[in-house]
Amino acid sequence: MIRKATVRDVKAIHRLLKKYADRGELLPRALGELYGDVREFCLFEDECDGSIIGCCGVHVYWEDLAEIRSLAVCEKHQREGIGSGLITAALGEASELGITRVFTLTYRCDFFEKHGFRIVDKLTLPQKVWADCIKCVKFPDCDEIAMLKCLGGV
Ligand SMILES: CC(C)(COP(=O)(O)OP(=O)(O)OC[C@H]1O[C@@H](n2cnc3c(N)ncnc32)[C@H](O)[C@@H]1OP(=O)(O)O)[C@@H](O)C(=O)NCCC(=O)NCCS
Repeated sequence: MIRKATVRDVKAIHRLLKKYADRGELLPRALGELYGDVREFCLFEDECDGSIIGCCGVHVYWEDLAEIRSLAVCEKHQREGIGSGLITAALGEASELGITRVFTLTYRCDFFEKHGFRIVDKLTLPQKVWADCIKCVKFPDCDEIAMLKCLGGV
């Protein structure tokens, strides 16, 4: 079941992201930062036991631009379509908000390509994005790949 996150989910989101962040596959997110951004997250919840199997955040940067970030699915449930479901939900939410362009910074180009994202030069992303990048542990040696998808036929 895909649903929006609540503050009660934040510790589970943190644990899920931390597993991949420790292996360098995702950017680490502090617990405090996740509470602040809780409204950005949609989750995949196990209907049997209520555990959080997957999460995905949509961060709005500007009137036409948002980022998909902190997308993760627990290893036991990968390749079941959960990541795809979360991306679809996140893109739907961005579209409802009136966003026309969604980008992501990722190592999983293959996965995002299947969802209509195309590789772009990082430098084409607006300066506002870099204000957040400065806070990132990888700055200035970011090796993630920037990908962009236009919504609503734009
Ligand atoms: C990237 C990630 C979110 C994908 O999640 P997922 O739930 O495995 O994604 P899906 O199941 O929708 O799709 C993954 C693959 O499974 C395939 N698949 C989907 N449903 C399937 C099913 N029922 N049976 C077999 N294969 C299936 C998809 O076609 C896709 O194929 P691909 O590997 O060739 O791309 C997950 O691997 C992850 O958490 N990785 C670590 C963190 C990370 O890298 N996050 C992304 C960076 S922003």
